[in-house]
Amino acid sequence: MVSTESSEGGSGEINRFVYVATAIAALNGLLFGFDTGIISGALPFIGKTFQLSSFMKELVVSGALIGAIVGAAGGGRLTDDFGRRKLIFVASIIFFVGSLIMAFAPSVPILVVGRFTVGFGIGVASLIGPLYNSEIAPSRLRGSLVSLNQLAVTSGILLAYFVNYAFAQGGQWRWMLGMGVVPAAVLGIGMIWMPKSPRYLVRIGEEEEARDILKRIRPSADVDEELDDIRKTEKEQSGTGLGELLESWIRPALIVGAGLAVFQQITGINTVIYYAPTIFNSTGFASSASILATVGVGVVNVSFTLAAVFLLDRRGRRPLLLVGLGGMTAMLFGLGGVFYFQSLQGIVGLLSVVGVMAYVAFFAIGLGPVFWLLISEIYPLEVRGTAMGLVTVLNWAANLAVSISFLTLTNAIGKSFTFWLYGALSIVTFVFAYYLVPETKGRSLEAIESDLRSNSLTGSSEEATEQTVQNE
Ligand code: BGC
Repeated sequence: MVSTESSEGGSGEINRFVYVATAIAALNGLLFGFDTGIISGALPFIGKTFQLSSFMKELVVSGALIGAIVGAAGGGRLTDDFGRRKLIFVASIIFFVGSLIMAFAPSVPILVVGRFTVGFGIGVASLIGPLYNSEIAPSRLRGSLVSLNQLAVTSGILLAYFVNYAFAQGGQWRWMLGMGVVPAAVLGIGMIWMPKSPRYLVRIGEEEEARDILKRIRPSADVDEELDDIRKTEKEQSGTGLGELLESWIRPALIVGAGLAVFQQITGINTVIYYAPTIFNSTGFASSASILATVGVGVVNVSFTLAAVFLLDRRGRRPLLLVGLGGMTAMLFGLGGVFYFQSLQGIVGLLSVVGVMAYVAFFAIGLGPVFWLLISEIYPLEVRGTAMGLVTVLNWAANLAVSISFLTLTNAIGKSFTFWLYGALSIVTFVFAYYLVPETKGRSLEAIESDLRSNSLTGSSEEATEQTVQNE
């Protein structure tokens, strides 16, 4: 259920059709980001309307995450049964309906049901966006197309922050959440222009249609060769289940993916994304000023993700990841310090905004895009879909664990120690990345797979880094 890697005709021209389809598929990321961002601005007002305790606030945030875990867990299977396009359409309808449920929710339980519903849609979308793109993308555009998805996620977050800001004056949280119908409708309608995935068509025996579509998206490539490849991988994949993932040669890649999935979350990014206005509020900012500062955080997130999209193929994954983690660690300890010294009260607000922005910048240049990029690269074709599904579920589960505990944790041990805890976990992540994460820049997926088979996934990273240095 994954990408076709080899014969896209090397120098073949990439036509507009592929770009349009890729851009529409990236709207899945936009949906993912929109919902991630919208709740941060709505939460303080929802809290007032329903007199929510910290725990209830966490439940409102987490309802979507539980939905996303379920959606990501079922998404791989559903997409194989129904096809990618149809499922994208279904996800957009689910998201549309969930947004309406939230907008009109008369009580907290209904609001949580609405959150779960949109979450389910996002869980499916977070898996299908990259999956679909990898299936129609030529391999030489792999890096940038996969990272474009993260760019769409961050753009969705920023869009949500603008919507939050627009409705903050009147505290209109129902409008904020209800606006989710717009990106959902755009995605649902946009789907009409997306070609069916050739791989899915081969799977269900529609080879002629697959050939037609391949001809449209690879104008100057050898379509027959690619069709052959698809058939071969389909055969290899038949019967692939979780069992195959436990084979010993795949284990290093599984550890890297699962580790990064969990570390991406337990170093605290979404406490900032979800709770930024709540954090700024507590340092003395008024509600709308907090949301404005949060818009600034969104702009930083998009800008540095854009920088990453350009740098990942030039500098490599490892340098960006390690620099990003170093910076995140420093900022988390700094933020803990800012909150610790109460005497800094007057400038605490300002320092916290600067610290949070720098922390987000370091995440956006490294751990943010690198996690999603690596999981699309390090798995052998025959298990890539299953493996990506599994680590995506882990990512959402870790996200849930952090989000549900953040406010409780800050109440119990205070903000300083909470940020220091994330700082300590960033150090652990740095060590993990330093020793275990391979460099995949400029390497073909076949070469990565053969390293894995010969048990030298990370061994090749130094070699690859050396090559990079020599090339420069
Ligand atoms: C993470 C999300 C996060 C987003 C922030 C993504 O890579 O998976 O959990 O909200 O980055 O930009």
